[in-house]
Amino acid sequence: MQKHLISVINLNKEDLKELKTLYEDFRRGRRENLDGDIALLFLESSTRTRLSFEKACRLLGLKTYYIGRGESSMEKGESFLDTLKTLKALGFKGIIFRVPFVLFPYDNLLIDGISLINAGDGTHQHPTQALIDLFTAMEVFGFVEGLRVVYVGDIAHSRVFRSGAHLFKLFGARIGVCGPKTLIPSDLSPFGVEEVFKSVEEALEWADLPIWLRLQEERFKENYIPSKESYFMQFGLTKDRHEKIRGYFMHPGPANLYVDIDAEVLYSEKSLVLKQVENGLFVRMAVLYWVLRDG
Ligand code: CP
Repeated sequence: MQKHLISVINLNKEDLKELKTLYEDFRRGRRENLDGDIALLFLESSTRTRLSFEKACRLLGLKTYYIGRGESSMEKGESFLDTLKTLKALGFKGIIFRVPFVLFPYDNLLIDGISLINAGDGTHQHPTQALIDLFTAMEVFGFVEGLRVVYVGDIAHSRVFRSGAHLFKLFGARIGVCGPKTLIPSDLSPFGVEEVFKSVEEALEWADLPIWLRLQEERFKENYIPSKESYFMQFGLTKDRHEKIRGYFMHPGPANLYVDIDAEVLYSEKSLVLKQVENGLFVRMAVLYWVLRDG
């Protein structure tokens, strides 16, 4: 049966263990040669996800074809499903997509003959970022069971939070959130959140691993914050707060300087930001191999 990776909800612990082993193997230099053509449909901007997927494809012997914003016939009204059927008819084995809309429900999109790999859909899912954050935490801390992970910032618009919290929870981590009231979803129960912090200081006292999120102004439908300056003072990673971090922090990138984070601490000794990027290549090799090897 055709394999896909659209949502982390569909991954069980066995899948995750297999993906982690593949990730570690590819990190150690495992080589594989998959044959076929892959379309990268990126209707939203991206640096790290797009290039690491593209590089991962090439390292696995897959040919890549990029189609960016303003270039696909979806801009002329073609549906996502018809785009998939068109790519399948052209002989593509898989499609890696980043889209500004939420792909849910998606059962009708699972057509035979073409695999779907989600590189970020609206505020819904970013499965490979979640895998990066989980595997990086496992590597750095040596465990995830009982690890206290707090997401800070724009929780409401974050596909990184929605997918990451689910995976961390599956491995027994405890989840907290901290951000402006206007940027915290009213129902946090699907994500296993047990703590909602009013202040970053309280959150940092509790957390082993704070994960700062980007303020996603491009998704704002109204003004959710008084100003970027006040947001940074209240919820940003300032130098003072950086002092209080006991171990490490993450940010999926791209980071908005002096909105999410002070430029002087972005790449500090406590920062896992570039490690997340580095690990992204091997996570994406693992995902591509896992999805496509039997196709
Ligand atoms: N973290 C992430 O998705 O970054 P890009 O938007 O640069 O791909």
